[in-house]
Amino acid sequence: MHVAPGLKVLYFGTPVVLVSTRNEDGSANLAPISSAWWLGQYCMIGMGGSARTTQNLLRERECVLNLPSSAMVDVVDRIALTTGSPEIREYRQKQGYRYEPEKFKLAELTEQPSELVSPPRAAECPVQLECRLVDAHPLGTDANGEKGFATAFQLEVLRAHVEEELVIPGTHYVDPVGWDPLIMKFCEFFGGGENIHPSRLAQGWQMPHDL
Ligand SMILES: Cc1cc2nc3c(=O)[nH]c(=O)nc-3n(C[C@H](O)[C@H](O)[C@H](O)COP(=O)(O)O)c2cc1C
Repeated sequence: MHVAPGLKVLYFGTPVVLVSTRNEDGSANLAPISSAWWLGQYCMIGMGGSARTTQNLLRERECVLNLPSSAMVDVVDRIALTTGSPEIREYRQKQGYRYEPEKFKLAELTEQPSELVSPPRAAECPVQLECRLVDAHPLGTDANGEKGFATAFQLEVLRAHVEEELVIPGTHYVDPVGWDPLIMKFCEFFGGGENIHPSRLAQGWQMPHDL
């Protein structure tokens, strides 16, 4: 029997991506997201209007999608509930967000120069995708009924860097057994199908989970 409980959250499970962009002053920003899917050499990501990354992407039109493995969950959780934006809206303050201009440092990740775009790669991430912005579309409506509570960014992957041991020798393919992505499911962290770490994001959202 199905029920229709009026689900408040529809995050059924997607990989975590650390998006690096350039701020206006040239410094790097890094944002954990999980609204991401790929088709061919293109990727769609979804970013809320309050994120610094949204402003950076619209202005600079470049980013790197850094994919952490499940073993890097503590790195991701360390920068959860932080923003590179000095202005923080009230609802985000209530969730526990704070301003953090040096997210690479807080995450203990190393900035690695990219080859084709300006934002740096996160050296420790096994997969790094250098991207250019193709298009940006408003997504949904905000609390006042205005178009776009978030933006759907269409990105083209210009160059994919992959940790050598994850590539099937002699091919152009990733070993699906070797690659264990960090998955965000209903604001909680999963790797290999198991819940692997407490999640600040889930706490900020007051998710009713008993993990
Ligand atoms: C695991 C995880 C997944 C997240 N997924 C998204 C997402 O898909 N889209 C989004 O806009 N924010 C997402 N967030 C929240 C962003 O990290 C947040 O908006 C943050 O402000 C982005 O950083 P920035 O403001 O410096 O760009 C996620 C956070 C975490 C920890």
